[in-house]
Amino acid sequence: MRRAKITIVGAGNVGATTAHWCAAAELGDIVLLDIPQTEDMPRGKALDLMQASPIIGYDSQIVGTTSYDDTADSDVVVITAGIPRKPGMSRDDLLSTNAKIVSLVSEQIKKSSPNAVVIVVSNPLDAMVQRALQVTGFPHQRVLGQAGVLDTARYRTFFAMELGVSVEDVSALLMGGHGDTMVPMPSCTSVGGIPVTRLLDRKRLDEIVDRTRKGGAEIVSLLKTGSAYYAPAAACAQMAEAIIRDKKRLIPCAAYCDKEYGVGGYYVGVPVVLGAAGVERIVELDLDAQERADFQKSVDAVKELVKTVGELMAG
Ligand code: LAC
Repeated sequence: MRRAKITIVGAGNVGATTAHWCAAAELGDIVLLDIPQTEDMPRGKALDLMQASPIIGYDSQIVGTTSYDDTADSDVVVITAGIPRKPGMSRDDLLSTNAKIVSLVSEQIKKSSPNAVVIVVSNPLDAMVQRALQVTGFPHQRVLGQAGVLDTARYRTFFAMELGVSVEDVSALLMGGHGDTMVPMPSCTSVGGIPVTRLLDRKRLDEIVDRTRKGGAEIVSLLKTGSAYYAPAAACAQMAEAIIRDKKRLIPCAAYCDKEYGVGGYYVGVPVVLGAAGVERIVELDLDAQERADFQKSVDAVKELVKTVGELMAG
């Protein structure tokens, strides 16, 4: 039986760590690609990961390369390429550089892996995934963004820390764009089946929501030289697993919404069913008035970003 093939574009911290989590879960063979100027760096990281395999016990072939020829016919492509944030920068500050990088990568993917499901991680996320859709021309079900899994994981972590319970018992949902306007949904968050609103008061809930919204920036300010990568990479691996093993996970992802939630043709974080075909279904919830207003604000922020990318790419 042919093993699944996963290409990870960008062998930096997020890319290499995604390779690490994917290998550890034995999801398939992995190609770790970076630009030719990196010379042998991706090869070095791939070989290092291969040499961890007898210890951890995974049978994945991990190849480092600077050539898209090695990525041919991948089942899943994760695009991590781009520059990360430095302290004081917002994700939106990365727009122009990363839009060009994501466009170049998407052109190559279109040629080398025409049937792949593409997961974009580069920031600003919602605008970059829209760019990948436009350039690849793939069906929108096969182009999606990693954000909600990460944001939800942060939110779940903070609840588990607050309540002194296992993270496994915290189930949560976050919607909207991957930015300061993301919409945590306390109404869809429970701990061991108990609605979180029955365990914490409004003030504490709001504080946790606020920390979640700023979760990426908190890590950037601590690291000082870049942004988070263990959790973003773990999120990518979970999405890759859902696709490769056709798990039908119900998780939030940046998905193309047209009629759904009245978004009108943009990427935004919504609950989806993720399986072999990519985004197999978008789950539409009845939002209450506050959630709807917050979601709309987030969609408006995404539209603004996409407009700026369009202008930059045209000019
Ligand atoms: C973060 C970056 C990866 O949220 O967007 O940490």
